[in-house]
Amino acid sequence: MLVYLNGAYLDSAAARVSVEDRGFLFGDGVYEVTRALGGRLFASDRHLRRLEHGMRELELHWPEGLDGAGVREVSERLLRDNRLTDGEATAYVQITRGVAPRSHVFPAAGTPPTVYAVARPFKGLEHERARGVGAILVEDVRWGRCDLKTIQLLPNVLAKQQAARADAFDAIQVRDGFVTEGANTNVFVVLDGVVRTHPTGPRILAGVTREIVLELVRELRLPAREEPVLATELTRASELFFTGTTTDVMPVVRLDGRPVGNGQPGPVARQLYATLRERMEQAAKISPAATA
Ligand code: PDD
Repeated sequence: MLVYLNGAYLDSAAARVSVEDRGFLFGDGVYEVTRALGGRLFASDRHLRRLEHGMRELELHWPEGLDGAGVREVSERLLRDNRLTDGEATAYVQITRGVAPRSHVFPAAGTPPTVYAVARPFKGLEHERARGVGAILVEDVRWGRCDLKTIQLLPNVLAKQQAARADAFDAIQVRDGFVTEGANTNVFVVLDGVVRTHPTGPRILAGVTREIVLELVRELRLPAREEPVLATELTRASELFFTGTTTDVMPVVRLDGRPVGNGQPGPVARQLYATLRERMEQAAKISPAATA
């Protein structure tokens, strides 16, 4: 497998990062995961906007000669050179604050960031989607800037592992009684006929899939509100579903072992998935730089 590291394309087994990389020492970096269909990135403008938002907020800078458009080209080349242009794939990019002796303070200006990118084959979760999945509730113990897609994912890792141990697909995080998001997904609830999801802000990641799904909800003229839902209200939900780049729209049919709604994937999740899928396939056909 060919990967990209700091300007070079090389075999993943030969790619090396210093032990003094601030990503390794401090989790000091940001990342993005973008879907690709037929070698074409889906919604890459939105992913790049979010990446650059994180870089601005954390004072991370592009290295000489690279920018967002360049990263897109890198990902497209990785898709081609790894023969991932026929089926589906994910493109991952990570930027850390580079290599410097361990000190909490930022390294000297001009220290080049570390940029790593990889593309991998992706297999959809059709079996899970058809039956619906389980979820658990966990306390959201993360920091106050969940809008930044940093590589510091320990609370997310622990939440996901707890879900896996409970044979659930993901953990729904709850802060001050309100549902925030999953470990690597956003959460939607259908309550009293209204599609609800947590508003953007520092408590959640502004998911690209979340944003597109909200646009589809409006196009389909379903009542919707970006308003937090109390975890205690979930027992009244007719539907619950996750959204995410590697999840699309995933209906949740069991929460902490109890059925959600009638215990089957619901019509809103089904319709939204079908419409999202259509949108992704259309985008893949239109132009090489197709975005949603
Ligand atoms: N995660 N919330 C969190 C905490 C996430 O990590 C993700 C994505 C999402 C969904 O965002 P999007 O629709 O833009 O993928 C929400 C990626 C896929 C990951 O960490 O692998």
